Amino acid sequence: MIANRSKHFLSIYDHTKESLLEIIDLAIKIKKETKNKEFKPYLKNKTLGMLFEKSSTRTRISFEVGIHQLGGQGLFLSSNDLQLGRGESMKDSARVMGRMLDMIMIRTFDQKVLDEFAEFSGVPVINGLTDKYHPVQLMADYLTMIEHNKANNPVVAYVGDGNNMTHSWMMLAGKLGFELRVATPKGYEPLKEVMDDAIELSQISGAKIVYTNDPKEAVRGADVVTTDTWVSMGQEDEKEKRIKDFKGFMVDSSLMSLAKKDAIFLHCLPAYRGYEVSEEIFEHFADVIFDEAENRLHAQKGIMVWLDKRCKDG
Ligand code: CP
Ligand code: NVA
Repeated sequence: MIANRSKHFLSIYDHTKESLLEIIDLAIKIKKETKNKEFKPYLKNKTLGMLFEKSSTRTRISFEVGIHQLGGQGLFLSSNDLQLGRGESMKDSARVMGRMLDMIMIRTFDQKVLDEFAEFSGVPVINGLTDKYHPVQLMADYLTMIEHNKANNPVVAYVGDGNNMTHSWMMLAGKLGFELRVATPKGYEPLKEVMDDAIELSQISGAKIVYTNDPKEAVRGADVVTTDTWVSMGQEDEKEKRIKDFKGFMVDSSLMSLAKKDAIFLHCLPAYRGYEVSEEIFEHFADVIFDEAENRLHAQKGIMVWLDKRCKDG
């Protein structure tokens, strides 16, 4: 059992609304400083380990650049090159890394592996994506919503696969108390356990989270429309079947026309045009989408600085 989950960033669920908003405020402040070329060494001499068991472009670059700009250094660790890849246990790897690193970001398959790592490392652990959640992405997405004036009581429509991104949207909506409509094909709904957690959170925050198999119903009148790949990492063998099953779930101009006139479209990337999103919609919203990608850097700097302070406060 992890003694105190809020000393890590393993899921949105683990943090209070106040903490999440504190992290966002920190991210906004540090982003402003960075844009003014003020690089304050909030994490001077700290080393962030970045352990990857899956591919990454944004997560790797944003964490490495982020820790560097905060005065620390990043260490890229691929499981293929570590003894982990030859069978050393996660538990022992965590104990070794915790002795030498100040903070560790992990991208892995099973959320349980991440939890085990956090339990044994003794230092703050950040979820850089698991099959269940992608919480750092959601912090960047929310920052982007704020910057595009879409954070005030928004209606968000998620169209596509009920995956780690969907689950993370459910947790964010549940914590912050906004309306989220999730449209997936039959058989691709979010996990029942995450739906249960979302109900629990909604009862506290007043969030409205609804599920449908009709993308139009989800998008009608939405402020923010979002999607993700239909084939997540590790599901490559299911690609052909998924493409058939997701017919009608592409966010294209006809679907997007049902949203509010000034609605924005978000995508965590990588995007597969012609599948979950049309070329036209992707390019129309490219400025927002790449703000969102850049915000990975700023949001994660907020997370790292917040965790470091949280750690010092005990
Ligand atoms: N969105 C995201 O996490 O991208 P990467 O897989 O490239 O890190
Ligand atoms: N759902 C995707 C997100 C990629 C950032 C995956 O897990 O591959």
